[in-house]
Amino acid sequence: MEKLSGEKNGADTKAADVLISVRNLHVRYAQREILHGINLEAHSGETVVILGGSGSGKSTLLRTMVGLEKPSGGEIWIAGKNLAVISAPDLKEIRKKMGMSFQGGALFGSMTVGENVALPLREHTKLEESTIEIMVRLKLEHVGLLGYESYMPSQLSGGMKKRAAVARALAMDPAILFFDEPSAGLDPIIAAGIDNLILQLKKAFHMTIIVVTHELASAFLIADRMILIDKGYVVAAGTPENMRDCTQPRVRQFLDRVAEPEVAGEMDYLQMLTEGTSNTEGTVEDKRGA
Ligand SMILES: Nc1ncnc2c1ncn2[C@@H]1O[C@H](COP(=O)(O)OP(=O)(O)OP(=O)(O)O)[C@@H](O)[C@H]1O
Ligand SMILES: [Mg+2]
Repeated sequence: MEKLSGEKNGADTKAADVLISVRNLHVRYAQREILHGINLEAHSGETVVILGGSGSGKSTLLRTMVGLEKPSGGEIWIAGKNLAVISAPDLKEIRKKMGMSFQGGALFGSMTVGENVALPLREHTKLEESTIEIMVRLKLEHVGLLGYESYMPSQLSGGMKKRAAVARALAMDPAILFFDEPSAGLDPIIAAGIDNLILQLKKAFHMTIIVVTHELASAFLIADRMILIDKGYVVAAGTPENMRDCTQPRVRQFLDRVAEPEVAGEMDYLQMLTEGTSNTEGTVEDKRGA
């Protein structure tokens, strides 16, 4: 992959700050490999955005990072444990520290909003019902949905459903939040509200947040660092500024929303990845195969 200048590494990064470290991750469904050696790091309190086109493997990466898919190779270190080889009880324990809002919301339609938010608390804790009720109200208040406890998901708008899903992800006071396309399908104003919510969570609770998106405006607003995935490879990683300045053709194509070439063979594709690695600013370093 391309590592962009300005990305923290070596001397200016304390290893102790690294909360998540994905190393050479390979994931396959049956015989088909989807992720071909992904590297990603997230420091405590940082928002890392995973960018990429449809089908590039973003959701697969996120699902693997929360332990829902088993990698076929590589390591996923979260809070000192490698999820690639973790035991079921340890995984259960570490998942209490992680909140996830899935692509498509995924509230349970037959439960009220309050019951949806209470679900992780009922599953993972032995808290009194009265305590759970208070916690549910608190979480709904965080996302601006106080008073909607008894509503059914079908009675909420798209943006409200996303917020309710965030409240559920917050239920266990996680240290790490994973969002898969939090603002997809929402109108721009509601989507901006979700971006603000993510910024607030980071600021108020110092949460480490991993967001998958292909919404560029949102990505540039919320990210401390970003990676761009293409066809299961990380093609670039760096700060939003690094990414904006990057001249690598594959990165430009994604950021400038240039249509796919009609005939792009494997050779063209590899060429696109390697071109621009010796650009005038000298800002990118070819890390492919590393
Ligand atoms: N459960 C599964 N079984 C088999 N193949 C899958 C499964 N989930 C995803 N895939 C395949 O893996 C590839 C990557 O899918 P993934 O959902 O990770 O992409 P994505 O980047 O999240 O796309 P989008 O932006 O459309 O959500 C796709 O080719 C998809 O068909
Ligand atoms: Mg997806």
